[in-house]
Amino acid sequence: MTASLATVAYIGATILFILSLGGLSSPESSRRGNLYGIIGMTIAVLATIFGPRVTLAGVPWIIAAMVVGGSIGLYAARKVQMTQMPELVALMHSLVGLAACLVGFASYIDTAVILEGAEKAIHEVEIYVGILIGAVTFSGSIIAFGKLSGRIGGKPLLLPARHWINLLGLLIVIWYGREFIHAETASAGMIPLAVMTVIALLFGIHMVMAIGGADMPVVVSMLNSYSGWAAAATGFMLSNDLLIVTGALVGSSGAILSYIMCRAMNRNFISVIAGGFGTSGGAVAKKPDGEPAGEVVPVSAQETAQLLKDAKSVIIVPGYGMAVAQAQHAVREIVEHLREKGTKVRFGIHPVAGRMPGHMNVLLAEAKVPYDIVLEMDEINEDFPDTDVSMVIGANDIVNPAAQDDPTSPIAGMPVLEVWKARTSIVMKRSMASGYAGVDNPLFYKENNRMLFGDAKKTLEEVLGAFRG
Ligand code: TAP
Repeated sequence: MTASLATVAYIGATILFILSLGGLSSPESSRRGNLYGIIGMTIAVLATIFGPRVTLAGVPWIIAAMVVGGSIGLYAARKVQMTQMPELVALMHSLVGLAACLVGFASYIDTAVILEGAEKAIHEVEIYVGILIGAVTFSGSIIAFGKLSGRIGGKPLLLPARHWINLLGLLIVIWYGREFIHAETASAGMIPLAVMTVIALLFGIHMVMAIGGADMPVVVSMLNSYSGWAAAATGFMLSNDLLIVTGALVGSSGAILSYIMCRAMNRNFISVIAGGFGTSGGAVAKKPDGEPAGEVVPVSAQETAQLLKDAKSVIIVPGYGMAVAQAQHAVREIVEHLREKGTKVRFGIHPVAGRMPGHMNVLLAEAKVPYDIVLEMDEINEDFPDTDVSMVIGANDIVNPAAQDDPTSPIAGMPVLEVWKARTSIVMKRSMASGYAGVDNPLFYKENNRMLFGDAKKTLEEVLGAFRG
């Protein structure tokens, strides 16, 4: 393939990636968006393999690497549970970071003796910055993977003078950057490059370790953005226009997503990155003196079915527990049942419900819940006072009134779905344990709230049984 044909193929792939991002912005067009992405990536890979920069002798190596990588990817995609998706995504981001580092070192070894003058300096800056972003992305994503999969606790690690440590690291990185550019020989340049890589790896670990459980959504989208910039940096190192454009697309869309996440949680981006919010999850809600925080009113599946039957309007709020229980199909059956008898049923989706952006939308779409009854938090929050029953399925932090009422709460200021304003709220969960942010939820003790304890799928099937019976 000639260079100009490869360029045309790259432009085609770029357009398809932009269309893909556009398609993914709404559930109706997301399948089409995915298809555009697949076609774009196929064109990009083929144009690269058969492009002018790969010799025929290299093709078997590339194909062998693709078979190994593709098989691992296929296996992981088939095996991963929906609840493990966020950690898989974090792991994928780490691979982009690792690739940027490896390409950086390889590119330096390859070109250090060939280039000269300004061209050499520019290329070395590209390498230095590329490895820096790549190493931060790599180690930060590995820690995010550990936190999201529960291998590392959600409690923020706050080292004394941590901001000074970061500043010192930055100054050393800048100093060694100068040393690197001025290095006379390739082997002399290797030392500053290696020192900077170690500092960047430590910085990535430190940065994500300092971020509390409740702020992990921002970290996931931020690392998404970093992985894009790492790919763009790789594109500069390799003079590959497609990688630059694609990396910039991922980098900027990740940055926009981080902004949206921060707004959804009423957080300042800088304060999230500086770290320290949130605590570890899973504790039983307690008052400070260790006593349970109030009385709860448990209900049975039969009583829940009766409350739903009597309601004229119902708002369902799904959360992470619906994903764990895989209860989305049972939810859809209940919704169908209620709609058949004329009940107005809608879903209220919080922007950080679950463990990844759009988590609930994906599950509801998979269960074929009609899109027009799935509403964003801002679209539905005012309707709770006119609603008979709000049904919370495996959600906790996103319906916590303490976010509004308790300025000392770790989630204070985070907008929440005001389910307690409905005539009756029903919370479905297995125990009194707290959610991801590890904070007590006063909703459970409200007079108009009922608790339906048990695995969400099992209890919803019992509710369905009571409907049918
Ligand atoms: P959480 O606050 O984590 O609450 C989920 C609840 O589901 C838990 O309290 C748990 O209580 C219950 N549950 C778990 N398994 C269940 C099952 N099989 N059946 C029934 N209930 C079950 O979830 P949320 O309300 O969706 O809020 C999301 C939280 O995750 C926020 O703090 C958010 O910041 C954080 N987060 C979000 C993201 C993104 S991007 N969405 C990423 C990382 C972190 P029991 O154990 O008592 O059953």
